[in-house]
Amino acid sequence: MYSKTVMEHFRNPHNYGKMENPDGFGRVGNPQCGDEMIIYIKVKDNVIVDVKFETFGCVAAIASSSITTDLIKGKTIEEALKITNKDVVNELGGLPAIKTHCSVLAEDGIKAAIEDYKKKKLKENNND
Ligand code: FES
Repeated sequence: MYSKTVMEHFRNPHNYGKMENPDGFGRVGNPQCGDEMIIYIKVKDNVIVDVKFETFGCVAAIASSSITTDLIKGKTIEEALKITNKDVVNELGGLPAIKTHCSVLAEDGIKAAIEDYKKKKLKENNND
């Protein structure tokens, strides 16, 4: 049912865990199944230098989250925002059609973490 890449990321997720004092934090839920993804990012000079995630969900959700952290690490904020769930599915070597929505969780997670980062930055700039 799943590609080799999906199973590798599920068995050995990349960048799994919590992050202290992240620059951006996102927590998103999948309305279709109730699964949840938490994502933390560290940003330096507009580049995502570190990322961690915790996903409470299915095999496809964990693999999507893991590969997404690989995809956004080292990318600028603008580049990371361009990543869609289709890119995630492609990188995973495909997902069964009924599991496509699981990859949306990862895309939503990145967007939520970046939104949080931007809000924090705006607040900091206003306080300067
Ligand atoms: Fe919930 Fe996959 S079934 S994210």
